[in-house]
Amino acid sequence: MITMKKKISISLMVVYLGIVATTSVVVASNVTYDHRAIVIDGKRRVLVSGSIHYPRSTPEMWPDLIQKSKDGGLDIIETYVFWNSHEPLRAQYDFSGRKDLVKFVKLVGEAGLYVHLRIGPYVCAEWNYGGFPLWLHFIPGIKFRTDNEPFKDEMQRFTTYIVDLMKKNDLYASQGGPIILSQIENEYGNIDVAYGSAAKSYIKWAANMAVSLDTGVPWVMCQQADAPAPIINTCNGFYCDQFTPTSNNSPKLWTENWSGWFTSFGGNIPYRPVEDLAFAVARFYQRGGTMQNYYMYHGGTNFDRTSGGPFISTTYDYDAPIDEYGIIRQPKWGHLKDVHKAIKLCEAAMVATDPTYPSLGPNLEATVYKTESGLCSAFLANLGTNADATVKFNGNSYQLPAWSVSILPDCKNVVLNTAKINSMAMLPKFIPHSLKYNLDSSGEIQQTWGWFREPIGISKTQAFVKPGLLEQINITADKSDYLWYSSSIIIKGNEPFLQNGSQTVLHVESLGHGLHAFINGKLAATRFGTAGNSKISVDIPAILNTGKNKVDLLSLTVGLANYGAFFDLAGAGVTGPALLRSSNGGLTLDLSSQPWTYQVGLKGEDLDLASGSSSVWDSSVFPKNQPLTWYKTSFDAPDGNDPVGLEFTGMGKGEAWVNGQSIGRYWPAFSSPSSGCSDNCDYRGPYNEKKCRKNCGKPPQTLYHVPRSWVKPSGNILVVFEEIGGDPTKISLATKKVGSMCSHVSETHPAPVDMWNTDETDKKLEPMLLLECPSPDEVISSIKFASFGTPQGSCGSYTHGKCRTFRALPLVRKACVGARSCKIGVSIDTFGDPCTGVKKSLAVEAICG
Ligand code: GAL
Repeated sequence: MITMKKKISISLMVVYLGIVATTSVVVASNVTYDHRAIVIDGKRRVLVSGSIHYPRSTPEMWPDLIQKSKDGGLDIIETYVFWNSHEPLRAQYDFSGRKDLVKFVKLVGEAGLYVHLRIGPYVCAEWNYGGFPLWLHFIPGIKFRTDNEPFKDEMQRFTTYIVDLMKKNDLYASQGGPIILSQIENEYGNIDVAYGSAAKSYIKWAANMAVSLDTGVPWVMCQQADAPAPIINTCNGFYCDQFTPTSNNSPKLWTENWSGWFTSFGGNIPYRPVEDLAFAVARFYQRGGTMQNYYMYHGGTNFDRTSGGPFISTTYDYDAPIDEYGIIRQPKWGHLKDVHKAIKLCEAAMVATDPTYPSLGPNLEATVYKTESGLCSAFLANLGTNADATVKFNGNSYQLPAWSVSILPDCKNVVLNTAKINSMAMLPKFIPHSLKYNLDSSGEIQQTWGWFREPIGISKTQAFVKPGLLEQINITADKSDYLWYSSSIIIKGNEPFLQNGSQTVLHVESLGHGLHAFINGKLAATRFGTAGNSKISVDIPAILNTGKNKVDLLSLTVGLANYGAFFDLAGAGVTGPALLRSSNGGLTLDLSSQPWTYQVGLKGEDLDLASGSSSVWDSSVFPKNQPLTWYKTSFDAPDGNDPVGLEFTGMGKGEAWVNGQSIGRYWPAFSSPSSGCSDNCDYRGPYNEKKCRKNCGKPPQTLYHVPRSWVKPSGNILVVFEEIGGDPTKISLATKKVGSMCSHVSETHPAPVDMWNTDETDKKLEPMLLLECPSPDEVISSIKFASFGTPQGSCGSYTHGKCRTFRALPLVRKACVGARSCKIGVSIDTFGDPCTGVKKSLAVEAICG
């Protein structure tokens, strides 16, 4: 069967989602729970949720991200609330722009979705200092996340502030708004032993405090086995099918199903195969779960200095179903959408009863939801990690690939198997654009740059002198990444430090995260810790002169710690010792406790160079590959609406601003280790964040997202602060779009889940290959590859197998070219049989234009 459609039918989607699928505002009034599910207005619900953190994208992106989430089959958007973004100074609140929480929640509600508001206010989240404002650290007597009055006062004050803000805007379901769930604290149970017996009383206090705020909707705590009722203890992890809620009266909820993992500077890039993610999701609902949340559904970007750490990268893409730039990631998004539809087809049976587990055999598991009224839905799982199985269930025979779940909404027909992907794949394409914009008198395109050399050492009047080496965060209060430690060494005539100058070393120890050491104004060493160990211990070759020698140590942080017991006290900076050692170790001079002059931040920060407007910019001899240099230029935005990034290959490390907005820290000079990657890791078997990694030996991030709404067509100002040295003329722009789309479907795939439940009487439940251009303005312009038989390879590199029919390409062309979407039956009825007795499949690569 071949059909050709210009547009996917919206009405079909409404049927399958089984939820409000128009743009109407979601209205819930009564949210409770019982042992099976969250109960909304008297109905138990099977719900699918996804995390989108509002400050990790822009308000201009939110409606599209929310719509894509809804189209992907989500019912709920989950977000943390980021305390340090909202209260940068105590009692001075900021809800502007990307921090407009009320607007975000309203937009989700207007799209017809619910909200899970995880207030924390400790959030972890790879967010700077776990979300805590730095001023909190300076409150006398404070101890974070324990039974400590000053801390509890502040936590209660902020939590109340947020709850009141939501109430004022009628955003709780109890007020007709979208918020159906809230979280207090975050994974405290993972680390609470370190806090001793005070942990117990703290959690009790947090629970009571939250409940007393009277939101009218349930509260959860994640990973908190001792969560006091009525707080629901929820699960976080790569799998939560084995989780049992603390209370028999609580439903089984999964607040963080990690859809991938975060990236660190200097690390390789984690990814999670969708077959495994789909398996984990299906297993959870199979074993009685009724709400799970993808952490993340859209990861986004750590703009500014918001990334946690140390060393969390600026991209927070997370291999999520929607990529950092807001483009759906295929086949992940599409396959999960199919999984959600299949699970929703089981909702009526699932909420009506408890599951039973008829035996199927070793490593196999059947689950049945069957009611007396005749509803029956089943899940069949093969937990084996390499052997496919054929099982008998209810008198029928089913083929179950290893590490997969089949979903049978009627206990008979398989609508989906988690290992068989019907959704198409998409290859992203980056289109390079030059930064050049100025036409000089000869009509030549010229790029003009201004620059400013950051002074080495102390340059500000606010510098101060203290004896000894001080911890950094206590001094900077994180107002800047940078802290100068300056001192001097007086060398008298004939000391051994002068002999064989190159052999004399300055030994410096630092808690991290990075260090640029200058001796007599010259860069003598640059060192960084790593994500696993931020500490630095370095022997810096010191060529000294008779008389006074200047030592200027620029210590820097790369995102403050966000996880672990007492993470707030981790500390950074040159805490010593700092020792001068002569060549043969004969003489050591301890500089640790002598007077050091401290300067918080850079001159360029004080001059607000990031805005581009200062008058200090130089334009004489262009300094390339020079440390501590600010650069400024202008550029035109690429035409169109495709997402934009700045490509930083050729630069070292620093921060960049576009029209005064920080696009985050960049660090293309930090490559990941060369081993430990597998581009095609086997999805079968338990996943963890180390299992599937790519991009070994390369920098994890060279392209940095510049939201479209931050640029105008021309005359955009780019400012870069380069720490190590780089060539800014190499910076270029890129736009991201979808290149090829591909699909590979076999004769053994179930028919697409969209085919179920339709009113079409003549529907034929056969495997189908579906293609659809992501943009409604585009149609399929060409077919790059089509093969029916035994094609091999993956999207972008398919090859024909031994068995093939020459009819495939013309048939697919006829069905698809010129249309936005097309579907093709994957069977010998459509293509004829090129090799009897062999299992065949259809692979297609198509281009939209
Ligand atoms: C969890 C935490 C999240 C996030 C995640 C890893 O432990 O609750 O906030 O940090 O790990 O991405």
